[in-house]
Amino acid sequence: MNGQDRRISRRAWLAGAGAALAWSASPARALLAITGERPLPASVEALISRMTLVEKAGQLNLLAAAWAGGAAISLNPAGAASSFDAQLRMVRRGELTGVFNGNGAEMARRMQTEAVRRSRLKIPLLFAADVIHGLRTVFPVPLAEAASFDPDLARRTARAAAVEASASGIDWTFAPMVDIARDARWGRGVEGSGEDVLLGRVMAAARVEGFQGSGLAAPDAVAACAKHFVAYGAGEAGLDYNSVDVSERTLRDIYFPPFQAAFAAGAPTVMASFNDLSGIPATGNPWLLDTVLRKEWGFGGLVVSDYTGDEELIAHGFAKDGRDAARLAFLAGVDMSMQSGLYLKYLPDLVEKGEVPLARLDEAVRRVLALKVALGLFDDPFRRIDPAREKARLRTPETLALAREAGARSIVMLRNEGDLLPLPRSGKKIALIGPFAGGGHDLIGPWNVYGTDREAVDLVTAVRETVPDATMDDGSNLARAVAAARAADIVVLAIGETQTMSGEAQSRTEIVVPAEQQALAEAIAATGKPYVVLLRTGRALALSGAVAKAPALLVTWFLGSQDGPAIADVLFGVASPSARLPVSFPRASGQVPYYYAHRNTGRPNPPGALQPYKAHFRDYPNSALFPFGYGLTYGEMVYSDLRLSSKTLGDTPLTIRATITNTGRMAATEAVQLYIHDVVASVTQPVRVLKAFTRVTLAPGARQEVSFTLTRADLSFIGRELTPTTEPGAFRLWIAPSAEAEGLAGTFTLT
Ligand code: NOJ
Repeated sequence: MNGQDRRISRRAWLAGAGAALAWSASPARALLAITGERPLPASVEALISRMTLVEKAGQLNLLAAAWAGGAAISLNPAGAASSFDAQLRMVRRGELTGVFNGNGAEMARRMQTEAVRRSRLKIPLLFAADVIHGLRTVFPVPLAEAASFDPDLARRTARAAAVEASASGIDWTFAPMVDIARDARWGRGVEGSGEDVLLGRVMAAARVEGFQGSGLAAPDAVAACAKHFVAYGAGEAGLDYNSVDVSERTLRDIYFPPFQAAFAAGAPTVMASFNDLSGIPATGNPWLLDTVLRKEWGFGGLVVSDYTGDEELIAHGFAKDGRDAARLAFLAGVDMSMQSGLYLKYLPDLVEKGEVPLARLDEAVRRVLALKVALGLFDDPFRRIDPAREKARLRTPETLALAREAGARSIVMLRNEGDLLPLPRSGKKIALIGPFAGGGHDLIGPWNVYGTDREAVDLVTAVRETVPDATMDDGSNLARAVAAARAADIVVLAIGETQTMSGEAQSRTEIVVPAEQQALAEAIAATGKPYVVLLRTGRALALSGAVAKAPALLVTWFLGSQDGPAIADVLFGVASPSARLPVSFPRASGQVPYYYAHRNTGRPNPPGALQPYKAHFRDYPNSALFPFGYGLTYGEMVYSDLRLSSKTLGDTPLTIRATITNTGRMAATEAVQLYIHDVVASVTQPVRVLKAFTRVTLAPGARQEVSFTLTRADLSFIGRELTPTTEPGAFRLWIAPSAEAEGLAGTFTLT
């Protein structure tokens, strides 16, 4: 839209609605209102009193954008066909609150103009989208970024994503995904921060802060949506959408905390998950959405269903038809319906017949309007809609540089025998072999609506910037690949999962490298050439044979727009690997769900040779091949001098210090981790729990003291009464480089 259009639209808006409503909408006030602390401006109440039942239900009706075919459809099951014109008609009639996964500022301008000029009440539309790891600049998949163990990086990429998204007319992102994922068969672990509660919490908060920037009303902010509430990652057998049956203790201990962290950071919305929860679908679960979320936590924001989540109550066998489904979801606490259209269709009648209280309808509408007020849409419905700004903000050199930095900082080095890495920049013949060596595919990773592999840089392109004569073979013909390896001095073998193998509805029964690629790795290993495995994956994998034994092994995930350059930076030592596994890599698929913070059992598996009657499988010790927190650097890190400020922790916090020395020949960044174990408690406790981590960057020969603080609250667990509890007694602690490394071990007593 040009400047003049923009003024006209804005003027039309101000004349038509602003005068009547006199929004004294200070964004700060609105934000307070949405978090439940203050009433909304009187003008919102006045507006609600003028709305018909259909207009009210319309504010709760969110649909996939139909414009230009609708980007949403490619990442969701096909919905009922809708045309852009039909959606414009709905806007005019006040039957639509907004759309999601649309296509940019031009679409938003046309729809918003219709809303603020031609609908009776001129309520602005809300534009939502799945901006999970970037818009057109694609950042590493969230699981990869979690490997950075650097919440500040997550904050920066979320900020950059919000700047791009908001310039494209987007007000609201369906992110962050904060589901703890402990079963690597589940494909959607790629969208979250892995298996650990602390890492999940800090990443959730950082992403919310990044998306929302200086405040929701800022033109470059997008509202965050914590999803999927709750325990979506705990589906039986790692099967997506499957039933979940976990205890309330586990919900409170493991699955709730990242949501609480997202809300504490200011997330004003939450998405109900698809799964049923011990028999009650989350989307129709009043205990979850009302008792816990509203009453216990005081959440004042908006609950949106997942895509047709309300309608799916029928397939769950929980609702008898669409009307029943709308009633159950709405009364349970789902304020806004995504994609099914059931709220628009049935809520007016349900209210008229007295099956749904009008007060509940008004409450949900109030939350939607509060969000729109907080986003500044009533002040200027076009504040995020400006095609010129959109063009200027997409894929800027700065965001692409950030994508490259984030990529390099997400790569986890699992092995580097004989310092094979970094690779020499000259003097050696390098062969890039495997399906991911080049060809511009499988770069951006799953769950990205707007980015394309075409706009991303692949490995061979990036490597040839440094080594112009590097050769490439896609590995599809074994004999040819072996010949290519034989002709080289060093092989870089790029194998793993394609990007369609993880993500929504992409559960796997065997979390292994696909058979043909495993065969390729065996053949390359048999040549005797030194080889580096680059592992493309959206989940933890059970590695074996020539992959598990590779002299050098890097987990490269899906790194986004700058995938190739980020990998090349690590390969050639421009960047030193510093990331750590956010998910344990087990030894075999049959171990999953495998996570480091498991309980001990009464017959724990001792180290060493398998002994009878212990908690292990016949064929493997029950430990990880590469545990959570594991990752190597180009330095050589030595941990020493564990010091505790006291032998006891009471009302004074305990300070724990250690010295980290880089005895290697290259600078590196170490992610130092603090774990504890509560030795005896009235509820059995995990063998280890991460309590803090920090990153230290050390030049060769340099040393630095790291210091952590533990308070009484840090030692609490969900007790017998299902509330946070601390119990005096002995604790063990470790400052260690991974969840299963001994590192420096100590003890203290909680008094
Ligand atoms: C279904 C997914 O579960 C959810 O994460 C996403 O936000 C919606 N589809 C909308 O695309």
